[in-house]
Amino acid sequence: MKLAVIGYPIKHSKSPYMHNFWLDQAGVDGEYEAIEVPPEHLENNVYELIKSGFTGFNVTIPHKESIIQYLDEVDAAAKSLGAVNTVLINDGKSYGYNTDGNGFLKSLLTKRDTEEIKKANMLIIGAGGAAKGMIGALKSFGCDRISVTNRTIEKADLLIKDHRVNGQALQLSDAEQRLNEYDIVINTTSAGMFPKVQERPIDSAKMKHGSLAADIIYNPQKTSFLKQAEQAGAESLNGIGMFVYQGALAFEMWTGIQSDAAEMIKKMTELMN
Ligand code: ATR
Repeated sequence: MKLAVIGYPIKHSKSPYMHNFWLDQAGVDGEYEAIEVPPEHLENNVYELIKSGFTGFNVTIPHKESIIQYLDEVDAAAKSLGAVNTVLINDGKSYGYNTDGNGFLKSLLTKRDTEEIKKANMLIIGAGGAAKGMIGALKSFGCDRISVTNRTIEKADLLIKDHRVNGQALQLSDAEQRLNEYDIVINTTSAGMFPKVQERPIDSAKMKHGSLAADIIYNPQKTSFLKQAEQAGAESLNGIGMFVYQGALAFEMWTGIQSDAAEMIKKMTELMN
């Protein structure tokens, strides 16, 4: 079975390690490779992958949006999000999906059970593509108490209205003051990502004791946002789980095999240390 991830740049991707481990573990004869695809070669490369018998591939920065025009079909959730991270090829036709939002949800389920998640009062920080995918997945799961805070508040407002959730669009400074109202606070911005590790999207010192701070960032494993939240008595969840579960969902689409994500989270935690 031939699998791949396409992106630009792609050298540092941990996806080949993860998927090749799962292929080996399942005894599937196959290989998952990282293919560097500059934007101007995207169209040709997609057709090349289809022609040369690939079962599927992951799509990463900067192709998640632009790939859509080259696919035969895109599922409804990925289409409304405007971004695809997983492509399945069947009988020479390409199908696009996005497993990021559900990957995050699966990661969240390692810290809270279904009912806790559904009834939680949540705050999402950021209103870009990552936030959009997440709010869609959370809403489909049955969450409704979702507020959004963003530097540009108009984008937070749009997200709330588009998804008809029962929450507010907040300025970052207002959200900071009201942080103790939330059970789960999720950073979807890149603030605090290596190398700007001292950055924080919001001051998390006022988080509620026993609440959960989640970050989509995994480098560093503990962002300044998560560190400060822990000091306030909150639990923390970094982006490794989301990364692994979005991969596990893609792997299952391609192979029909459920991989051991919990084991992979441990491996990735060691590998990325
Ligand atoms: P992605 O698709 O990864 O979500 P994006 O669409 O560029 O990327 O969105 C990035 C989000 O992070 C935006 O909500 C952005 O805020 P603005 O809409 O005001 O630009 C937010 N963001 C990025 N860097 C930030 C920072 N240093 N502090 C606060 N918010 C930040």
